[in-house]
Amino acid sequence: MTANSFSTPLFSIKSDQEQQLQQVMQDIEKDFLSDVPIEKEPRGSSVPNSSAENYIIDEPREQDSIINETDTTLQDINEQFASPAMYENTKFEYDETVQFWQDLNRDGSMEASDMIQEIVNVANRFVGKGGDALNYWLRHNARTGYFLTNASLGTIGSALHERLVNNNNEDNRGDEEGKAKGFIETLAQPKVVSRLLMDTALSYEQDYQRIADGKFKLPYDMYTSNRQNSPFFFARQTARFVNEAVGTVSRRNRGTDEDKRTWISGIKSDLYPDYYQNAFHYQTDGWMSQESANVYETSTESLFLGRQDAMQRTALVPLVKYSKEYSQSNKDGAKRPLRVLEVACGTGRFLTFARDNLPLDTEFTAVDLSPFYLDKARDNDKNWRSIRKKSDKANSRGSSADVLTTIKPVRAVQAKAEDLPFENEEFDAVVCMYLYHEVPRDIRAKIASEMARVTRPGGRVIFTDSIQLGDRPDHDATMGNFEKMNEPHYRDYISDYLPVHFEKVGMECLTKTVCSGTKTLAFRKPE
Ligand SMILES: C[S@@+](CC[C@H](N)C(=O)[O-])C[C@H]1O[C@@H](n2cnc3c(N)ncnc32)[C@H](O)[C@@H]1O
Repeated sequence: MTANSFSTPLFSIKSDQEQQLQQVMQDIEKDFLSDVPIEKEPRGSSVPNSSAENYIIDEPREQDSIINETDTTLQDINEQFASPAMYENTKFEYDETVQFWQDLNRDGSMEASDMIQEIVNVANRFVGKGGDALNYWLRHNARTGYFLTNASLGTIGSALHERLVNNNNEDNRGDEEGKAKGFIETLAQPKVVSRLLMDTALSYEQDYQRIADGKFKLPYDMYTSNRQNSPFFFARQTARFVNEAVGTVSRRNRGTDEDKRTWISGIKSDLYPDYYQNAFHYQTDGWMSQESANVYETSTESLFLGRQDAMQRTALVPLVKYSKEYSQSNKDGAKRPLRVLEVACGTGRFLTFARDNLPLDTEFTAVDLSPFYLDKARDNDKNWRSIRKKSDKANSRGSSADVLTTIKPVRAVQAKAEDLPFENEEFDAVVCMYLYHEVPRDIRAKIASEMARVTRPGGRVIFTDSIQLGDRPDHDATMGNFEKMNEPHYRDYISDYLPVHFEKVGMECLTKTVCSGTKTLAFRKPE
């Protein structure tokens, strides 16, 4: 790790070995797309990567047959590559972050003290830069402090609750208390906490570097006085989160079928597929209540100690870059505003950062299956528009009474990602964040096909989701455990070769970025 970890040139030049490997892959792909079975060397013999053995190789699962049965070339890819990350790194231009997170603690030798030292190094670098950098660091540390407090209160609340319940139920006492203790002790280990804090500090550094490089702006909610920064808001969100954490941990400890159900489970519906009728993360009501939507951002940020926004903002890099190219190409021709679609927008938090960084006349559409999350997304959009109006007014020192009216509200549409109710080529850019790990593999393929269909030629699909096997080798052994948080498709997701879904529907692979537990892949639809 060096002082300029995230400030090396944007895309690294590939080594000779990697270029050779890319050539091999291009050959495979030619065959793959033409569906001609080809003979390949066994795994390892033609893959110039000495660390291949370090990767966990999943046993084939039932879901794999969805693609594999007729698709001999996917088998070839499986034989060539020990992990989706290895494969991806031959398909995309990847920036320095990909190598950085791959190498971080690769051999697992970092102790808690090394991680704390790393945090101190990051702090020193921020302090050394001063100005906006220091401001960013201080404010984001306050943010992490708040979410760490939430996480601690949630953990303590859950432990007390489990004890109370078990005191009333002597039969289960040893068993349930053991489970609760095990879960809480895991979270409270110095090494686990230090690792989470180190990841958070490094994510902030990476996020800030992008801002300093002019890739996107400082977060709009960093300076302004808005509802998110009021003590009342904090107190209410903490109360909501602790209440939710107690329920979540209880359900996780029991893990019964009933705990995995929501109030829509078991209904026959064209709108809500079976896989959707699940209480993901054991959260109350799954995606289907106002309370779930109200606590979601606080829950995820408490889990990630405040770095979720920074991880999501990795998607801004290709989106803002593309928007600039779009304005450029439109300069002399007939202009129409950029059209952006976000698929599975959730509470719309990312959408507000995207809107803040794109031209104000950009037309935004947001899709989600949950009417409750869509409602929250509209509320977040309204809040952003009012903050933006205030800051524009302050900056222009004049009247901007009509700024709000010139920024159209987001168009919120309840629909399935795998069946989008839009015309072919209706959007210039389509963003999809943290959806793929929650859906079965065949649905992932359908969503890729739908996103490609509604994107205009020359446009972009920007994909952001959890890292997969090989993205951070030190996580491989434990990554699949997230499945235990009632994430039934996660284990399959981490071994799914994602570019395959997109290339099959004609998209080209462009760029890859990693930030802590998240990666962003950008695809282009050829003209
Ligand atoms: C993990 S959340 C991510 C939300 C948001 N993109 C974010 O990054 O915060 C998953 C979201 O996907 C939505 N969702 C799940 N399956 C969907 C589908 N098939 N079509 C549309 N939305 C879906 C859920 O309602 C939920 O809001």
